[in-house]
Amino acid sequence: MGIKTAILGATGAVGQEFLKLLEERDFPCESLKVLASARSAGKTVTFRGQTTTIEEARPEAFDGVELVLSSAGGSVSKALVPEAVKRGCVVVDNTSAFRMDAGVPLVVPEVNRHAIREHQGIIANPNCSTIIMVVPLKPLHSRWGVKRVIASTYQAVSGAGQKGISELEQQVADLAAGREPKVALFPKQIAYNAIPRIPQRGGLCDGGYLEEEVKMIRETKKIFGDDSIQVTATCVRVPIIRCHSESINVELAEPFRVEEIREALAAAEGVTVQDDVANDVYPVPLEVSNQDDVFVGRIRVDNTNPQALNLWICGDQIRKGAALNAVQIAEDLVKMGMLAVKA
Ligand SMILES: NC(=O)c1ccc[n+]([C@@H]2O[C@H](COP(=O)([O-])OP(=O)(O)OC[C@H]3O[C@@H](n4cnc5c(N)ncnc54)[C@H](OP(=O)(O)O)[C@@H]3O)[C@@H](O)[C@H]2O)c1
Repeated sequence: MGIKTAILGATGAVGQEFLKLLEERDFPCESLKVLASARSAGKTVTFRGQTTTIEEARPEAFDGVELVLSSAGGSVSKALVPEAVKRGCVVVDNTSAFRMDAGVPLVVPEVNRHAIREHQGIIANPNCSTIIMVVPLKPLHSRWGVKRVIASTYQAVSGAGQKGISELEQQVADLAAGREPKVALFPKQIAYNAIPRIPQRGGLCDGGYLEEEVKMIRETKKIFGDDSIQVTATCVRVPIIRCHSESINVELAEPFRVEEIREALAAAEGVTVQDDVANDVYPVPLEVSNQDDVFVGRIRVDNTNPQALNLWICGDQIRKGAALNAVQIAEDLVKMGMLAVKA
């Protein structure tokens, strides 16, 4: 017995990770529905050793479901999540559809799990780059107060879904075979390149910023419940399959010693410190892939500002930046008694 659960977008990069995590963390599912587009209906996935058939995501598919883990893109969420809520489901949504809505908590458990209690059916998972940044910012903000953050990201192609992975792999294979690489999803060749444009189409905002950058700015303020935190960001796609990295400059309100910062980060929930550059101990995306924590290294005082720090952080954006964060929210719902596990 347990919770009647559904995954919306089960064939995607995040959906596949949901399947792995529910199994790995022994989440108390009584039953699991796997939903995707009509293209995937009838195909199967394996969950806990059993073959489960994918159903087309339609409003009626949510009848009798209690928890929905949703990751099928913003427009699908806008259409289907209210239908699921109408049918009594609690939805943890990975898309940007409801993140900034009043009445929808935007939650990273390590930072603001208390906000889960305010939900009215939907809990939003923040953007992956935001999640990875706010986990190590939390202990710094609690003790010294974060005044300003300057973030530069190095984002993996899987952040653009399964198609992002396929495009990089195909371009690498084409180049190795002496063929002209095909550019389709990303605006320029991504193999052996760096593209300062996320999302890859549209998303142009005021002042020359792009949507991903604006998400990091706005979502950080909402998660901390503090509009005074100033954030500026440049988001860059790099030819890495999985795991985002970020170079973060953080200005603090109170004086600090770098040893205290290292200790506070090492003690923080969800953070692993790897910081001994002389011995090549620092996080890199290949080693942080498939790990739960956000890893922090290269911790040093900003040479131009004694009130600021430079940090290098890596976090698996499909795991902590998406599926794991959502499953942790679901686990917290159970712990808080807001999602009953029937005996
Ligand atoms: N990838 C990341 O690192 C990441 C991180 C944080 C948040 N997110 C967000 O999570 C969402 C999914 O991302 P992803 O990377 O997993 O994308 P993806 O690999 O492209 O997968 C998209 C999923 O949505 C399903 N889908 C598409 N159209 C649908 C429709 N009309 N009805 C029902 N299902 C439909 C797809 O099913 P079919 O296979 O049947 O087409 C697939 O299961 C996006 O909103 C993304 O922004 C992604």
